[in-house]
Amino acid sequence: MGPATRPPDVVVARGAGAGRTLIRPRSVGERMPPARPVGSVDSPFDRVVRGDARDVLDRLPADSVHLAITSPPYNVKIPYRGYSDDLSPEQYLAWLRGVWQSLHRVLVPGGRFVLNVAPTSIKEFRPIHHDLSTDLRQLGYIMRTEIIWYKQTMGRRTAWGSWRSPSNPHVVPSWEYVLVFSKDQWNLPGDRSLVDIGAREFERCSDGFWRIPPERKRSGHPAPFPEELIERLVKFYSYRANVVVDMFGGTGTVAAVARRLGRHYLHIDSSEEYCRIALERVRRALPPREIPIPPPADSLDLPAGSPRAAP
Ligand SMILES: C[S@@+](CC[C@H](N)C(=O)[O-])C[C@H]1O[C@@H](n2cnc3c(N)ncnc32)[C@H](O)[C@@H]1O
Repeated sequence: MGPATRPPDVVVARGAGAGRTLIRPRSVGERMPPARPVGSVDSPFDRVVRGDARDVLDRLPADSVHLAITSPPYNVKIPYRGYSDDLSPEQYLAWLRGVWQSLHRVLVPGGRFVLNVAPTSIKEFRPIHHDLSTDLRQLGYIMRTEIIWYKQTMGRRTAWGSWRSPSNPHVVPSWEYVLVFSKDQWNLPGDRSLVDIGAREFERCSDGFWRIPPERKRSGHPAPFPEELIERLVKFYSYRANVVVDMFGGTGTVAAVARRLGRHYLHIDSSEEYCRIALERVRRALPPREIPIPPPADSLDLPAGSPRAAP
């Protein structure tokens, strides 16, 4: 999968915000997909869906997702199955801009978007996280914060550049960025009884330097999330029974952790093989007894008739 040609759905603001690119507002009377109760048989959530991130997002109801957590292909030539991770930076950013536009429509007001991105390689260094955060802010997202995920991988480093010489030493990225955004407003309304983060966990999360080792169990995927990273994000940024989506879901870490923590989930990935792994993993993740979150439907599709949003 990769960049697709689509009708434009951004506008450039005039007047006070001149020059900013904003998500195109819906006109009065424009067709909106009907909301379906989360957890019902024809709900588009609580599923593992094989498909293109943007196509699937476009088939979800507007204002229906509380939290999206994702790490897109990093464009650093990782050998994913069925996807070329080697676009030009411009193609890569343009493709992702389309995905961010589609996501914005489906987030509830105050809904959060957590974007994990790794620094690029030393030789072709480009501060891609700056490009991405600029794009997202131009699209109208509020940028809440930047968390540094320190992966503690320095023990394995080999690329020193000019060893013990200032002529050309290299800094090896032993961290990744976790960029956090909100739609329209900072607050996410919710019921206090559905909060599940403890005081110590909350304090630990609010310190923006997170020491979490990378996932060692790869389950056939080159870049899975460690569960601890997702567990912190889900508890810090959402309430129980909220809807959590990963549109580049890989082997299903976000969906499995979301279900285990009593959130509705939607897993999207273009690879059938990764989706099959995710399906098994989500089935095994048991939700708390008092929050019944259904196991994924035994299909990799959205229910028939999920309406496609007007472009
Ligand atoms: C960085 S990996 C995500 C890994 C995931 N966080 C995990 O824990 O397993 C990016 C994923 O995006 C998927 N992908 C690539 N192009 C896609 C597209 N157009 N739509 C949906 N998924 C896509 C790849 O198959 C890959 O699994």
